[in-house]
Amino acid sequence: TAPPRLFEPVSLRDVSLRNRVVVPPMCQYSAEHGIAGDYHLVHYGRFALGGAGLVILEATAVVPEGRITHGDLGLWSPDHGAALARVAAFLRANGAAAGIQLAHAGRKASMQRPWEGNGPLSPDDVARGDAPWPVVAPSPIPLDEGWLMPTALTPAAMADLVAAFAAAARRAEAAGFDVIELHAAHGYLLHAFLSPLSNRREDAYGGDRAGRMRFPLAVARALREAWPAGKPLFVRVSAVDGLEGGLTLEDTLAFAHALKGLGADVIDCSSGGLAGSATAARVRRDYGFQVGFAERIRRETGLATMAVGLIVDPRQAEAVVAQGRADLVAVGRESLADPNWALRARTEFAAWPRQAGWWLERRA
Ligand code: FNR
Repeated sequence: TAPPRLFEPVSLRDVSLRNRVVVPPMCQYSAEHGIAGDYHLVHYGRFALGGAGLVILEATAVVPEGRITHGDLGLWSPDHGAALARVAAFLRANGAAAGIQLAHAGRKASMQRPWEGNGPLSPDDVARGDAPWPVVAPSPIPLDEGWLMPTALTPAAMADLVAAFAAAARRAEAAGFDVIELHAAHGYLLHAFLSPLSNRREDAYGGDRAGRMRFPLAVARALREAWPAGKPLFVRVSAVDGLEGGLTLEDTLAFAHALKGLGADVIDCSSGGLAGSATAARVRRDYGFQVGFAERIRRETGLATMAVGLIVDPRQAEAVVAQGRADLVAVGRESLADPNWALRARTEFAAWPRQAGWWLERRA
């Protein structure tokens, strides 16, 4: 049988990945004032030891107000960069490319850590030193029942944020990262600009699709300019909102085309997140439920894509790559459960005799 495509190296600009297995960004809510500590070194380092080709650090806020919680990582000062440099160096020394997701939480900011309730910060949280802060969004519409009321960003504040994203990209470069992923998914600030449900602006940054894309594209362009030409830029999208009147795959294809035009390299295809649990999205969560988005975007834009979402089994992951549906496969929660997921997957391919392997390969 052919060697698994999942373990074929791939080059993106001047960065080569030893295989196609990616650990996607997953917030740990364990930073102090946005600064990475020993926890992050051990947690992320373990995925490099476990064989992943690329490890993307969690949503990292470009300004303090862009954090979801007080535990989020940040990259708004050189000290933040210095703390992250240790993590990036360890990943690279152990064979994984080092990625970091740059983010602003928008109207999902200033909340409790999930295990502390996931709601707005309470008097008890304030007593512990976790004070709330004003949240911003394209329009003054809260995410859902029980979420904070944001104020609409002014064009001047948006320009400051574009500069903050670019400054964070330069700090990521100084810290030794190989890959930046721009977070434009899951209801956070940039996704909120893209979706007609959350962007009701009447200026140049709202209205039709081109208007709604204007700010996210300005951020992507600034990142591309600040980030070395030899290093790839990923963008994570929510391909669809799964809500009546929300973002459609056609919108996302237009966004991906525009991103390609300004030099983005990989579209990381997620979905949903624009509303809270009070308004359930209609994206059905089944094994590989978002792979179809990665496939469509790859086929129609010619950009490389990353598939993510309930990809749990090595042969399932192999089929995604072998069938040309995506270039990279992200394995999130399964990597938390087994940081050696990639190594284990590799031995699984190597070990099966043909009498069993032939059937197992067809399972995906
Ligand atoms: C996530 N996810 C996520 N996504 C993202 O773009 N930025 C982030 O910081 C986080 N944080 C996060 C934390 C935790 C604990 C989980 C479980 C998930 C989503 C994640 O990257 C991935 O898209 C989903 O988990 C779906 O993939 P899996 O887990 O089914 O492989």
